[in-house]
Amino acid sequence: RIHLEASRLARSKPPPLAFVFDIDGVLLQGPNVLPAAKRTLSLLDGDNPLGMKIPYILLTNGGGLSERDRCEKLTKQLGVQISSSQYIQAHTILRNLSQKYSDQPVLVLGGKLDAVRQVAEGYGFKKAYTTTDVLAWNSSVWPYRKASLAELEIAKSIDFSQTRVSAVFVFHDPQDWALDVQILCDVIQSNGFIGGPYVSPEQQIKEPIELVFCNPDLLWRSNFERPRLGQGAFKEAFQAVYKALTGSTYPYVQYGKPTAATYKFAATVLTDHVKEIYGSGELPHVYMVGDNPESDIAGANAADWSSILVRTGVFDPQQGPPSHKPTYLANDVEAAVKWAIDREL
Ligand code: G3P
Ligand code: MG
Repeated sequence: RIHLEASRLARSKPPPLAFVFDIDGVLLQGPNVLPAAKRTLSLLDGDNPLGMKIPYILLTNGGGLSERDRCEKLTKQLGVQISSSQYIQAHTILRNLSQKYSDQPVLVLGGKLDAVRQVAEGYGFKKAYTTTDVLAWNSSVWPYRKASLAELEIAKSIDFSQTRVSAVFVFHDPQDWALDVQILCDVIQSNGFIGGPYVSPEQQIKEPIELVFCNPDLLWRSNFERPRLGQGAFKEAFQAVYKALTGSTYPYVQYGKPTAATYKFAATVLTDHVKEIYGSGELPHVYMVGDNPESDIAGANAADWSSILVRTGVFDPQQGPPSHKPTYLANDVEAAVKWAIDREL
């Protein structure tokens, strides 16, 4: 029956619209699934005024797990099948960028224990190391704490004074900002050899160690009443320390919403997903539903998509109008989707 349904869909024309959903503050708040989320995603499966399956993808600045593992988790949480072909997270874009560093030692930051190392290895980074590997190598690198037993267990043993770190990728939100800022400064100030000879700030900037951030979010919405500090706040903390040390801002590459690279990547993933369901057809009218004007609305507006801002996340109307004007302001994701469908009827 599923096969017959799939082949019927593959012969029909795609609907006039498709959705891109942000996750934190739209579908989830931390571990909690928003009640409107489940109703909305099942409505898109066919039980809607258009009477057809409306394609959608998820586009999050979150991360820390492999796409497969996160999709398995989301499928259980949301009660609908979420496949990797409709899921983009902060560091997914790095999967196509790993070949440049596949055999070189790189530092990967963020997330719990070595989860991000495993993601990096899955992308093709063969020599991915974590800041707790560094702490396990030499506990005096950060005098205020020792590596925990769990960190010692997963640590890769390597001598970082003899190993040149060639690039640093902040995959997900760092959990120990102090350790990560210290080690980031060590890598940059000694040309990749931690504890190696000091290199002048001019030289550090002239031949920089590539530093890549995957999520610019200063704030994001978890299950606490007020938004939480995200990877963008970690970046600000690092740059403030680096400026105090050298008087300069360290050059870096930024991915994640609202960067054009991430939205361009999302457009190709959504186009492929529409083709996966309907066999062919170009990108229909795209509606982005997000909670953060700085990432979701700014990026969607710049991509010429329609943008719908919801009140269940970072945006707080008490603080005045949104910094980026959405096409529509909705209470939650269900109201957002119903408004968009009505508009296309
Ligand atoms: O780390 C997650 C957070 O920065 C935002 O996630 O889903 O709202 O883009 P999301
Ligand atoms: Mg969000």
